[in-house]
Amino acid sequence: MADVAVIGAQWGDEGKGKLVDWLSARADVVVRFQGGHNAGHTLVIDGEVYKLSLLPSGIVRDGKMSVIGNGVVVDPWALLAEMERLKGQGVKITPTNLMIAENASLILPLHGELDKMREEAAGKGKIGTTGRGIGPSYEDKAGRRAIKLIDLAYPESLPQKIERLLTHHNALRRGFGAADIDAGALLAQLKEIAPQILPFAGPVWKLLHDARKAGNRILFEGAQGVLLDVDHGTYPFVTSSNTVAGQAATGSGLGPRAVNYVLGIVKAYTTRVGEGPFPTELDDDIGQKLGERGHEFGTVTGRKRRCGWFDAALVRQSLRIAGVDGIALTKLDVLDTFEELKVCTGYEIDGQSFDYLPAGIDRQKNVKPIYESLQGWSGSTAGARSWADLPAEAVKYVRRIEELIECPIALVSTSPEREDVILMKDPFEG
Ligand code: IMP
Repeated sequence: MADVAVIGAQWGDEGKGKLVDWLSARADVVVRFQGGHNAGHTLVIDGEVYKLSLLPSGIVRDGKMSVIGNGVVVDPWALLAEMERLKGQGVKITPTNLMIAENASLILPLHGELDKMREEAAGKGKIGTTGRGIGPSYEDKAGRRAIKLIDLAYPESLPQKIERLLTHHNALRRGFGAADIDAGALLAQLKEIAPQILPFAGPVWKLLHDARKAGNRILFEGAQGVLLDVDHGTYPFVTSSNTVAGQAATGSGLGPRAVNYVLGIVKAYTTRVGEGPFPTELDDDIGQKLGERGHEFGTVTGRKRRCGWFDAALVRQSLRIAGVDGIALTKLDVLDTFEELKVCTGYEIDGQSFDYLPAGIDRQKNVKPIYESLQGWSGSTAGARSWADLPAEAVKYVRRIEELIECPIALVSTSPEREDVILMKDPFEG
């Protein structure tokens, strides 16, 4: 029996929600270990749509423990609003089925404001963030001035922590011409929210250790994707956390052997939200068609996603960096009815060829994809549950991808419905 981590292997939005839900039905504990409410996971269960941002996907199922690890940056106001919304859909959320790491760092309103002020000031050079304050909050964590969840339990020492934080932030705000944050007002806001959020705070590392010892199945739910990783992604057009599977250990308080099987989620084509390099982007009718057929609009910000051909060179690189054991290929049905499909196998940069995307924004901006062409199919792959249900060209496309990325396909997902999956390998079997 294995503990499984699910991570996105492209720029996020690979369709992790459905796969995580499919796996969480068989897990005992579901853990978020990085990111924050910049993520958006949509689950469809018995026709009911659940939209999750910060809560682990296990929350919608009875009898599962959901855990928000120390690697997550937690906006308590956004979290409470999400909890209320889900409770309105009949989901039970109490400290018996949700624990938030007491040492998680908080996202405060000033973080979202700074995120937006920076983006506005950057103009054309903006990152295209979700504006949720993710980056500024991680900066404060690394800068050792963050307010931690457990700090809310000690109101007498909060004023010193707030002062330390505001010394930094008010100086920055003056640079942007924004008004100072009032320490008393922030203290009052934190004191007000404390009794609502503190009942969920606890030692996540200990809970997970005990769960492992008891033989429980743990599922680590990644957010965003490897190409948005702060170290390995297309820096600086990345998010501010490590999105690779190794973060499951650091971001939850388990050792390096926390994960036995890493499932990479890979979309059958490529999308990206926000700015930054995208070698196979299609700024034409084909890109438009992919976006329309794939409903490529962001769950969090509603932004239109950029679309392009499948990039096997980049996915191969991601899978290696993240230590992926097998992939789930998603949204194959979006490619139904395309006459020809292209797959990127490498790049040319200033006359030199590469079988990977070299680091550095200056080199990446001159990248030209090298394509291989495959025949499309006219039949439908939607809802297929076995290889026999797929048109022959679709099978060829999937098998060619598997060859190029040098990683086995564990599952193919063929619709948003939970059971529409072709299963080759059960990740929980290790
Ligand atoms: P941030 O995480 O809000 O700082 O945004 C940094 C970059 O990551 C931007 O390009 C965002 O569009 C992207 N991003 C953040 N979260 C997600 C996600 O869940 N899916 C896809 N892209 C994301």
